[in-house]
Amino acid sequence: MNIYSAEFIKSSKLIEDCPEGDKPEYAFIGRSNVGKSSLINMLSNKKGLAKTSSTPGKTQLINHFLINDSWYLTDLPGYGYAKASKSSRIAFSKMIEKYVLFRKNLVNLFVLIDSRHLPMQIDLDFINWLGEEGIPFSLIFTKLDKVTQKEFSFNFKKYSQELRKTWDDLPEMFKSSSEKKIGKEEILSFIEDTNKY
Ligand code: GTP
Ligand code: MG
Repeated sequence: MNIYSAEFIKSSKLIEDCPEGDKPEYAFIGRSNVGKSSLINMLSNKKGLAKTSSTPGKTQLINHFLINDSWYLTDLPGYGYAKASKSSRIAFSKMIEKYVLFRKNLVNLFVLIDSRHLPMQIDLDFINWLGEEGIPFSLIFTKLDKVTQKEFSFNFKKYSQELRKTWDDLPEMFKSSSEKKIGKEEILSFIEDTNKY
């Protein structure tokens, strides 16, 4: 798919404040610092579209970007940011939970996972919760440029083993590097194929 326009629409604190849900929407979620905002910039060919930072906890609101005047890419705050206060962590997880459960035009949630790590309980818990709630999702292993092929294969195998404990069929999985522009075509093709609303 060719992206010819990508425009910031709005930052929202609550699902009630989000733009009207009249277009297909694809959202990016995952632990703080996993590379959600960077991936949105890579996919949309616009470097500064979503704000990125080396400090976790940069994205604090639900950010909507309108692509090709016809569908939304949505950047969400990260979960599991250890340094955030307990009350703000609770507020974030409530915000994310409500968005995921009630955003009616959400076509697919991309759950981002850092390729450098072995399976983390917080990600597995979140993925399993999505399954229980019947939310359509797929996984993206990010920062591929930071691991060797061997390290990635090892971590990927461990993830697959963990997921098979609760899933008969594994979800769709992608690899990406925003730094090296890996994964763009695959992710955009997936969006194109499911983008019927
Ligand atoms: P929060 O908004 O804080 O939840 O973080 P985020 O998931 O949006 O991460 P963000 O895109 O801001 O990236 C976090 C850091 O990782 C930044 O320093 C990015 O430059 C870096 N980063 C993101 N993607 C990649 C990648 O594919 N490769 C490398 N090497 N660095 C990356
Ligand atoms: Mg971000």
